[in-house]
Amino acid sequence: MDAFEERIARHYTHGALTAAIERGLQASGRGGGELSDADLAGMDEFHMGGREATAALAESLDLKPEMSLLDIGCGIGGAARFFAQRFGCRVTGVDLTPEYIETARALSMRLGVADRVEFHVGSALALPFADESFDAASLLHVGMNIPDKRRLAAETARVLKRGGTIAVYDIMRTGSGAIAFPMPWAASEDTSFLATPADYRAALAAAGFDIAGERDRRELALQMFARMRAKMAEGGGPPPLGLHILMGKDAPAKIANMVAMLERERIAPVEIIAHRA
Ligand SMILES: C[S@@+](CC[C@H](N)C(=O)[O-])C[C@H]1O[C@@H](n2cnc3c(N)ncnc32)[C@H](O)[C@@H]1O
Repeated sequence: MDAFEERIARHYTHGALTAAIERGLQASGRGGGELSDADLAGMDEFHMGGREATAALAESLDLKPEMSLLDIGCGIGGAARFFAQRFGCRVTGVDLTPEYIETARALSMRLGVADRVEFHVGSALALPFADESFDAASLLHVGMNIPDKRRLAAETARVLKRGGTIAVYDIMRTGSGAIAFPMPWAASEDTSFLATPADYRAALAAAGFDIAGERDRRELALQMFARMRAKMAEGGGPPPLGLHILMGKDAPAKIANMVAMLERERIAPVEIIAHRA
């Protein structure tokens, strides 16, 4: 991991994440013992649209039990566990932030899915896997921290088998104008590298991918924030277990900036599906 990547990992490091999640579980009456998938919904997927967005993305991957999937920048593993549980496939997650990997492993044990998922600390730009190891790959809200999209696409192509699919779901630049910070992925502009859908498509094509589809998910994201606001108004604040745990003390500013930039159409979460030729 180089100095830049260490900085990114520091941005995401909470310091006592498993304890904070345990406190959230206790406060919502679900402390101790076995957990179900639903107990963590709303906090273990760190991207816009949560589980709904992941389920929609999964359709494009056409996952089958015999397949192996690599989730690049897996965070605390919510999407990886969903792919494994729903489709029975084998999922490997890789992420720069050691605390997220520790948390992903601990939560997967608690949820009883540790036999189908594994997690490793590593960089998307130097994946710790042999060539042609996986049938499919996913990348959910990760590319915003990676300046070199071409290297990201080339490294993903290297570990995918021929014909393998990549499902990208990143926040992309969809309009001009300044971006407000902090954002959930970066405290300031110097660790944020938003690119347009055309930039992503070009990087994927240069790495030998054929583009199969693209979909702007801005409306889904805005609906999610509207639901979040309504729930908070009803309950008088954030729920005990929510994404604010991962976003830290600046969570309100990060969410406000994100909603403002979405509303002004400067950014949007965009899906791109591509197959390795
Ligand atoms: C916004 S979170 C998304 C996490 C997860 N994909 C999800 O949707 O819940 C971004 C994640 O990307 C990881 N990340 C950023 N740059 C990375 C890189 N170069 N290699 C691997 N992971 C990276 C961060 O550590 C963080 O866990």
